[in-house]
This record gives sequence, C-alpha cells and structure tokens, in this order.
Amino acid sequence: MNFYIETYGCQMNVADSELITSILISAGHQLVQNMDQAELILFNTCSVRAHAEERVLGRISNEQHRKKTNPNIKIGLLGCMAQRIGEKLLESNIGIDIVAGVDQYNMLPAMITSDGDFPVLLDFDSKQVYHDLMPVHQSNTCGFVTIMRGCNNFCSYCIVPHVRGRERSRPWKEVYADVKRAGEQGLKDITLLGQNVNSYHDGDIDFPKLLKYLNSIDEISRLRFITSHPKDLSDSLIEVMSSSDKICEHIHLPMQSGNNRILHEMNRNYTIEHYLSRVNKLKHAIPGIAVTTDIIAGFPSETDAEFEDTLSVMQELSFDYAFCFKYSPREGTDAAGMINQVPEEIRLSRLQQMIELQRKITYTKFRSQIGKCVEVYVESFSKKSDSFVSGKTRDYKIAVLSGTESDIGTLKKATVIDATAGTLICE
Ligand code: 5AD
Ligand code: SF4
Repeated sequence: MNFYIETYGCQMNVADSELITSILISAGHQLVQNMDQAELILFNTCSVRAHAEERVLGRISNEQHRKKTNPNIKIGLLGCMAQRIGEKLLESNIGIDIVAGVDQYNMLPAMITSDGDFPVLLDFDSKQVYHDLMPVHQSNTCGFVTIMRGCNNFCSYCIVPHVRGRERSRPWKEVYADVKRAGEQGLKDITLLGQNVNSYHDGDIDFPKLLKYLNSIDEISRLRFITSHPKDLSDSLIEVMSSSDKICEHIHLPMQSGNNRILHEMNRNYTIEHYLSRVNKLKHAIPGIAVTTDIIAGFPSETDAEFEDTLSVMQELSFDYAFCFKYSPREGTDAAGMINQVPEEIRLSRLQQMIELQRKITYTKFRSQIGKCVEVYVESFSKKSDSFVSGKTRDYKIAVLSGTESDIGTLKKATVIDATAGTLICE
C-alpha cells in the first residue's frame, strides 16, 4: 500500500513516525509525500493538551471525503491519542479503521492486511524498545534518536505516563549504532530523545557515560538531548557537557512554575531554589549556554501572586526561549481532579502575559548576539529567499546567511550582523 503519515506533538512522535515508516517499508509498503496518492493515511497523535486532540479530530473528519471516491482508503490512528481514546473513537464511527497504541507499531503490517479482523491494539508492553529497527530519517541534516521510552514521573498535570507507560532505556549499543549510522547518512546534528534523559541507564551505563561514548563518533558534529528533568540533572552530566566538544551549548530544562507551592502541587520534586542553582551551575560551567524551558500558566489553584513568582524567575533567568502553555485539564491526571481550577479567561490572560514577557527577553537575547562569531549548520534554503540558506547555531538559534545549495549540510563560521526575536542574520 501507499501510505502517508501526518505527525503531531513532540519530537518523540516524529521519531516514532520514522520507526513506523521503517516497519511499513520493511513489510513492502511505500511512503508517499502527498496524501492524494495514499491508500493508508496515518495520524500519529498527541494528547498533551486538549487542543492537540481537537485538531486531529478535525483532520480526520476533513479527510473522510476521500473514502467516497476510493472505498479502499484506510485511516489509522496512532500515538498518544490512540492510546488514550482510540477505542472509544473507533466505536463512535468517525471514520477510523485501525487504532494502534505506542507499543504496538510492530503489529501494523498485520493489522493493515487483516481486513479489519483486529482493528485495535493498545496493550502496553513494558519491554518494548523497538529493537533492531533502522528509523527512516525525514531530514537529511538533523536526526532524532530515541534513547528511552515512557515516563515514571507522574507530574500531576501530565498525561504522558498514562499513555506511554513506564520508563525503559534502550541498550546503549543500539543507541550508539543508530547515532553512527545517522552520521554516516550525513546527519551531523543528532538529538537524543527521552521524556527524562537524565534517568537513562543500561546496566552501569548512565546518561553522562552514554554521552561520552557518543561524543567519540567521528561521523557526527553535534549532539543534543531533550528533555532534562531538573531533579535528575547531575553534576557529572554538567561536567560531561562542558568537556565534550560535540555536545552543544544548549539545554532544554522545563521549569513549569517559579513558585514552590505550585511546583509541589505539580509533583515536580524540586524547589525553585534547586532549579536556579542548576541553571547557575550550567551557566558557570558552560559559558554562553542557551537555556530554554517549558512553563504552564494557570495550574489549578495558582494565585496571582504565585503567577507573579513565575514572571520574576523568567526575568531573573532570562531564558533564550520559553515554550509557554495554558494549563489544559487531562482526564485521569491528578491535577484534573483538583478543586480550584483556574477560570479559562485567567489562564489565557496569564499565558498572554508570559508570552509577551518572553518575547521581549528573547529579542534582547538575540540582539545581544550581534557582532559575535557563530557556527551555523546549514539545513535548508531560507523560507524567504533562494539566495539565503538557513540553519542552527550550536546554541539552537535559527540563523540565515547568504549561500547556495552546496552549503546545505555543511558547517559555516559566520558573524551575526542583525537579529529579530527569532532569527540571527549572519554574514
Ligand atoms: N497542560 C498544559 N501544558 C502541559 N504540558 C504537559 N501537560 C500539560 C497540560 N496538561 C506541557 C509541559 C511539558 C510540555 C511538553 O507540555 O510544560 O513540559
Ligand atoms: Fe510529563 Fe513530567 Fe514525565 Fe515530562 S517528566 S513526560 S512533564 S510526567
């Protein structure tokens, strides 16, 4: 069959779509880049906020007309939303033909050819790490490599542990082989993925040791990782980051809130003082490190004063970028059952204040780069002009500079001559 896959949510889902592609191609199916050519349309979905789920429901409804012209077309629901409500959606006849959960992708070839005998497979498999699969990378320059699956943290607002199951690490030798292979394919910038990469372990290989091994792979130029949990970010990780040439000067460290009572209610298991001390240690050990974060506005019972605490920490730390979210109640999580849910309009207004503050901070951060020499890994043509190329700096900022097709996939030294709140203009 010709299959098309549309991916929502985080990079973990992007990496899962690359695995799914590999599984289906090995079974003789063909990936197509245009939905019009597909007989099998797959949606790899996200449940982290209600909005992400609503978008997918809209997409599924929009694509139903295709079945009228070609009754052989099948629509498949995969990923977190499949795991959470797939069974219900299948029963409600909205036009989904198969539903596969996050640990069941190996079964997809059998499901597709079974003529509807088993349209839903959602069992968790606490050992599933998709051994011996070679993901089909979507990009020619940057690669994602999953190092662990699942999460044990149960932050009280978060659906992820409920839909992705318990944490398990992939064997370090498989991770090593994947990173090396990606490098051989020309992908020089590799991001390691896990819900909490700091708790990676395979025997006595912990995350800092894994990074040390990967840093020795000649075929790659840059190593990154997401996501770190502040409670598990160790001194030995900071030491390895500062002494390994390929590990980029960037960390994504979700703060979630700047107030201790809210952090406790979120079950984050650290205080804001701990968070500040980790960031300060990182900044001291790795000069120029960019720190990005995730923050939630309007968690249940958050008062104005507690929200102000978050704004002041944002000012104090001046993150290079902050992904700001409005709290979204997720059925089955502890926070969804808390009394004192913050009214929608207050959540929204707090979100807007955070976004506005961060926009100013990011702008100042980007402007402060003017005059500096940076290394840009060129990934593509710039969106605005064919005589410019675009890529990322080591500290994860988008940069544009004049260039041609032959620059794509190469590292360039450049000087920042101008900056907006999202792009460094380089020469
Ligand atoms: N509501 C809003 N934001 C959430 N996140 C996770 N769950 C929720 C929720 N229920 C955010 C967190 C996390 C990021 C990936 O999504 O900030 O770090
Ligand atoms: Fe969700 Fe917390 Fe796990 Fe991240 S660490 S996936 S926020 S439960």
